[in-house]
Amino acid sequence: MDLTHRPRRLRRDRIRGLVSETTLEPTDLVAPVFVDATADARVPIESMPGHERVPIEESVARVEEVLATGVEAVILFGIPESKDPEGSRAWADDGVIQEATRRITDGTDAYVITDACLCEYTDHGHCGHLEAGLEGRSHEHEPTTTVDNDATLDALERIAVSHAAAGADMIAPSGMMDGQVGAIRGALDREGFSDIPVMSYAAKYESAFYGPFRDAADGAPAFGDRRHYQMDPANAREALREVRLDVEQGADALIVKPALPYLDVVGAIRREFDHPVVAYNVSGEYAMLQAAAEKGWLDLDAVAHESLLSIKRAGADLIITYFAEELAPGL
Ligand code: PBG
Repeated sequence: MDLTHRPRRLRRDRIRGLVSETTLEPTDLVAPVFVDATADARVPIESMPGHERVPIEESVARVEEVLATGVEAVILFGIPESKDPEGSRAWADDGVIQEATRRITDGTDAYVITDACLCEYTDHGHCGHLEAGLEGRSHEHEPTTTVDNDATLDALERIAVSHAAAGADMIAPSGMMDGQVGAIRGALDREGFSDIPVMSYAAKYESAFYGPFRDAADGAPAFGDRRHYQMDPANAREALREVRLDVEQGADALIVKPALPYLDVVGAIRREFDHPVVAYNVSGEYAMLQAAAEKGWLDLDAVAHESLLSIKRAGADLIITYFAEELAPGL
């Protein structure tokens, strides 16, 4: 056979690594950590095997476990001691995230990113303040619009400033309110936190893959859904528009969420923008691999590694993933 091109020549053991196009390092990964002000012991999260909510007192110990694997960054989510219609525990100085952030930044070298949103703090579970008159509506009378975008921006500013004051290294607004990046950037700058970057959830889809997280963080909407503020899974061009707006408002890094079902979006953003692109490999993506592995149908480490490698290959610089601790030591 007279074949000129034999791609297999570069697939032998001693050359394969040298020509590999994509690498995965522990420093590419961000580990989510759940801190629960209502818990006095660690509580396993059933739909996310290997993950738990930890009491504030254990937040430093929990982050030290993450650091021991080689992962250097965490993103914190909080379960407050109480909820109200405004979500006021989200910006309280003695709130769960503020307390945990102070302890973790004082006690460890972790790079601490905080998720700035209201859904874990409002009693109705939406990511913002409800428009007047809509409180308590049930899904029988599902309103088409529920969240008052502009009223929510004030709350997001307060949240971001309170996180920064507690020592957060980076703020990640996830509520998909229009103008949230500009509002937060302005508030941080006014309060003397101009060095704190904003990593925006720029293209966050209204996804069914968030189910296990909503159990973990107790943030499911009590009525309606989030489709009037999170993005329609049908749209990719709109993601570029969302990202452009966030870049104009001063976003330092751009999140696409979820990751695996949206790799086309990760790739498109990578090509159009030069900011760091972050993919959020969400709770449902984690849970489905865990469930299949539990049945013996998939090799967990292999599929998790392949998933994260694919997310990087598509163009992500960083991956927020529940697999961080599991995979990092083997990388
Ligand atoms: C808060 C928030 C959510 C997630 C991250 N931040 C939930 C949501 O939007 O419903 C989901 C993360 C995951 O599923 O892993 N707005």
